[in-house]
Amino acid sequence: MSAIEIDVTVNGAARRWRVAPGDLLLDVLRREGYGGVKRGCESGECGACTILLDGKAVLACLTFAAQADGREVVTIEGLSPDGKLDPLQEAFVEHAAVQCGYCAPGMILSAKALLDERPDPSEAEVREALAGNLCRCTGYVKPVEAVLAAARAKGGAR
Ligand code: FES
Ligand code: FES
Repeated sequence: MSAIEIDVTVNGAARRWRVAPGDLLLDVLRREGYGGVKRGCESGECGACTILLDGKAVLACLTFAAQADGREVVTIEGLSPDGKLDPLQEAFVEHAAVQCGYCAPGMILSAKALLDERPDPSEAEVREALAGNLCRCTGYVKPVEAVLAAARAKGGAR
């Protein structure tokens, strides 16, 4: 099938890419250098490939690149464009919510989507937002604590 051109804003920068209609956003983002988009199960089960698409957390392994045409993508690289960590990233570090770190980009982006929409989440809402992000190392207590701490630091969290 012939290639198509898509225009995507990635982490605030305009990009034009030639993709095949069946190319997955996960593959295209990684090919274009966004290595923070992690490849895990490739079947929608682990959340490692989570990105923001127009502000919503979506799984890049279940999204065609063509679906991002004309839309805004944020990857974990976009949270610290000048090398300064986002408060959510800092909270994950401070609360020891990262061990191997493989799940962290997806988890942090799921948390960001939640906090952008709901700055004062309950613990149950944080747990629900992170439910699709699997971690083989830390468990979930510390990531949940980190998200609540980041929300509190911004004046939210109940
Ligand atoms: S790689 Fe996308 S959900 Fe696991
Ligand atoms: S920190 Fe290793 S998978 Fe979550």
